[in-house]
Amino acid sequence: MNRREFIKGAIVLTVAAYVSPTIVFGAENLRWWQKKPVYQIYPKSFLDTTGSGTGDLRGVTRKLDYIKSLGVGAIWLTPFYESPMIDNGYDIANYTAIDPRFGTMADFEELVAEAKARDIKIIVDLVFNHSSDKHPWFIESKSSRDNPKADWYIWRDEKTNWRGIFGGSAWQWCEERGQYYLHTFATAQPDLNWENPAVRQALYDAANFWLDKGAGGFRIDAIVYIKKPAKFLDGTPDAPDGTCAVHNMIANTDGILDFLREFKREVFDGKDIFTVAEANSVKPEELPAWVGSRGIFNTLFEFSHVNIMFKNGDEVWHHSHPIRLSEFKKTLSDSQAATRDSWYPIYFENHDRARSVNIYFPSSADKKLAAKALATILFTLRGTPFIYQGEELGYENAAFKSIDDYDDISSRGQYNLARADGLSDKEAMRFVQKFSRDNARTPMQWDSSKNAGFTSGKPWLPVHDDFKTCNVSIEERDGDSVLNFYRRLSALRNSSDVLISGDYAELYPNNEELYIYTRTLGGKKIIVAVNFTTHDVKLPAKIFDGMKKILGNYADEKNYLRATEAVIYGN
Ligand code: NOJ
Repeated sequence: MNRREFIKGAIVLTVAAYVSPTIVFGAENLRWWQKKPVYQIYPKSFLDTTGSGTGDLRGVTRKLDYIKSLGVGAIWLTPFYESPMIDNGYDIANYTAIDPRFGTMADFEELVAEAKARDIKIIVDLVFNHSSDKHPWFIESKSSRDNPKADWYIWRDEKTNWRGIFGGSAWQWCEERGQYYLHTFATAQPDLNWENPAVRQALYDAANFWLDKGAGGFRIDAIVYIKKPAKFLDGTPDAPDGTCAVHNMIANTDGILDFLREFKREVFDGKDIFTVAEANSVKPEELPAWVGSRGIFNTLFEFSHVNIMFKNGDEVWHHSHPIRLSEFKKTLSDSQAATRDSWYPIYFENHDRARSVNIYFPSSADKKLAAKALATILFTLRGTPFIYQGEELGYENAAFKSIDDYDDISSRGQYNLARADGLSDKEAMRFVQKFSRDNARTPMQWDSSKNAGFTSGKPWLPVHDDFKTCNVSIEERDGDSVLNFYRRLSALRNSSDVLISGDYAELYPNNEELYIYTRTLGGKKIIVAVNFTTHDVKLPAKIFDGMKKILGNYADEKNYLRATEAVIYGN
């Protein structure tokens, strides 16, 4: 290249970077949170080092080498702050204190330091739409109508017919104050009033506190609900028929971006942190305002693929319908298209979802093959893969027998909703067993000893009864295990420019049996094919001609795909 060509090239690149600062030229231009997967930990269920029956921060520190073996660059910890645990920590009573169940501030500092020594960042959860009703702010707010924190929450004389996300009314009467307060989630989670600048400042201070403690960024909970629409503030109207889910009334409403821009200015700007928002109603066309360098967050979780079984995203479990593969594939392809110039997390599981092998494959599918097939997709779509604890072992749902065995507040809400809609106990339980969040929250299975090595005490939630055959210790020693497949996939993605930043294109979108797509970068091409059925399926064309198999969940190769087979080919 001569000098002139060099200068011309440099100008093109500079202009492109200016016009679209999130544009991706190759893996070398990516930020740290794009290059490696994230591992999500639900500390309560990870490892108990004290015998209390509840996991703790020291348990996470103890397992850092295990986590590192998955090739991850960050850990997202769900809340470990002081909390009455009505919603397992998403009801916070003190934003800057560690709940004694999880340990001490020194434990957190040690975790950050030990993780840093392994080049792993700690991402903490910010729950700023609501607090616990035991938070001193709420206790003061409810005490009278004229105390200094009287308008830190949302109080009204009249209630509307809105249904809360966990079922029941979204309003709760407070005798002390003689008014109703709004709670988008549980009664014990009153919504904070973001219109009040003092509330916002207190929340920003809490976020900055964790950055000062060494957190590498934030997962931001339920952020789309912080702005209540003006029409609501002016008169609390009843929702029109059929739309009384609070989500439909307040999610992502006008004016929310003003709050978020301030949040960004006060907390994120100028810092090399990772921010991922839970934002399930942001539309693809709104993404530029929400993510990337002209948006607020680095990226956000959207729900289209995980809510595919619910019409209009209403998330009423007994309204679920079977998943059509073409629809599922479309949600993934649409997300890939929407983020061509930005970035999404790729995920199938988290602490709010059932185990993915029980959701996306026929119930007769071999679960080990299914876990590897989903992992193949997790690591080969464009975006940051999020692995949820246990997913890397191929966990299955742990269907408890009675509703009384469930701890999860939303499972009980869904059960009551189903019963109120006329379902029998047995019918209602079928949906709870399939979708309960407790499926993701059973203790981590470390070995075949008592309580799967999770605790020497009584686990807060029963250990899945398959722990003797499905645990870390067994899978470590089995070269063909789901765990070792995850490690191979992670190493493959972490070292592949094509998988990290290559373009995505779906092939045969109407095929109801196979999911096939390519990733390309320059002259390099990778093709991924997954059979979602439990029988052999012919390939629609000779798609692998001239390519070499890189990885798959069957050892050998055929010119068709076997039951639940997943393959990755490259040129
Ligand atoms: C989303 C969290 O992921 C979930 O676990 C929680 O119940 C709600 N937000 C309320 O904070």
